[in-house]
Amino acid sequence: MSKNIAILGAMWGDEGKGHVTHSLSKDFDWVIRFNGGANAGHTIYRDGKKFVHNLLPSVDFRHKNVKAYLGSGMVIDLEKLRDEVHALRQSYPDAPPNIYVDYEAFIVESHHKEEDKATNGHIGSTNRGIGPAYKDKVARRGKRIIDCFTEGRPDMISGYSGVLVDLINMGVHFVHQLELQSAMEGSNLLFEGAQGVLLDINHGIYPYVSCSDATVGGIYASGFGWAKLDKVYGVAKCYTTKVGEGPFPSEIHGQPAEDLRKMGNEFGATTGRPRRVGWLDLPALRYACDKGGINALILTKFDILNGLPQVPVVLAYKKKPVSPSDFFNAVPMTTAIEGWLDAGNKPSQLDDFIRTVELITKRHVEYVSCGTAEHDIMAW
Ligand code: IMP
Ligand code: MG
Repeated sequence: MSKNIAILGAMWGDEGKGHVTHSLSKDFDWVIRFNGGANAGHTIYRDGKKFVHNLLPSVDFRHKNVKAYLGSGMVIDLEKLRDEVHALRQSYPDAPPNIYVDYEAFIVESHHKEEDKATNGHIGSTNRGIGPAYKDKVARRGKRIIDCFTEGRPDMISGYSGVLVDLINMGVHFVHQLELQSAMEGSNLLFEGAQGVLLDINHGIYPYVSCSDATVGGIYASGFGWAKLDKVYGVAKCYTTKVGEGPFPSEIHGQPAEDLRKMGNEFGATTGRPRRVGWLDLPALRYACDKGGINALILTKFDILNGLPQVPVVLAYKKKPVSPSDFFNAVPMTTAIEGWLDAGNKPSQLDDFIRTVELITKRHVEYVSCGTAEHDIMAW
């Protein structure tokens, strides 16, 4: 029987979705991105080398049966996609042409990136043109990939024929999702979210959000309403980070923040910006699970906190958050859990930490990650 799962960001992105997706991908036939664009930065380690995917799903391309799909809910910077596919081909010349792009996805054009730079600084945008591209989509004046094709071929007048031909020559397939549906129905699908629920356009902490659907809603919006999801995982780090502006109730400052940022190498994979850092915020995580459709958790980066005598965790806010506005001026109540020396040995302190997470979020933690290698992801 086939199985379908989703891996969603449960916080503000950068939770380790790429790492988790990459490790699980070999057991799936398709890995599907369905939201956002090159604002995402999914870091994966393969053969000891670091790769950052902005647009490509985090497929382990060494497994030749796994295919990548870029869904219609995405906004795609075609030049960036070309660079990414090119880099992949250089590293893995034998990887089969297993990359499929939905004709209905919208194109991020250069004026979108200019507009982002000029207007979205107060949000802390990545300036990848995401908001302006979705704005044009909703205003019904956006450009879809299909608009650049005539009779199945890239047309010259679109302005994108060069890059589209390059992509096709590198083995990228442009397709209608419905044409693949019957093949996909019998196979295993892994949906890889981008950003996180707290950045979701509908349920994130508005206006400090990105512009796409980072919840399960994004999967349906991309035309996969027929795909029954057996499990929706939310990924969170055992501490919290955020890039960009907006409320961050568990944020820490000064030297402890510098130390944590350095230990976790918390600098943006896409922009290189130093990430804001803080402790794990369980009321925020519970909110994200409820709003995001998340029914199980994966926690990452436990190795980063190795050796810390005590690990603070936010247990509650004075007022339980039930809407995005409750995150503004939230008063967090923090406790400290005894730290661990080596998370990889599954010490009893990790049990205590995870029990606390499960108690507050009402979700089971099914995997924990203690490093960047595939074997560092342990079933819990
Ligand atoms: P935009 O999506 O580039 O417009 O950025 C909007 C907000 O979302 C900013 O605070 C960004 O830093 C944040 N953001 C967007 N994509 C990601 C991501 O993949 N990881 C973390 N933060 C992100
Ligand atoms: Mg990232």
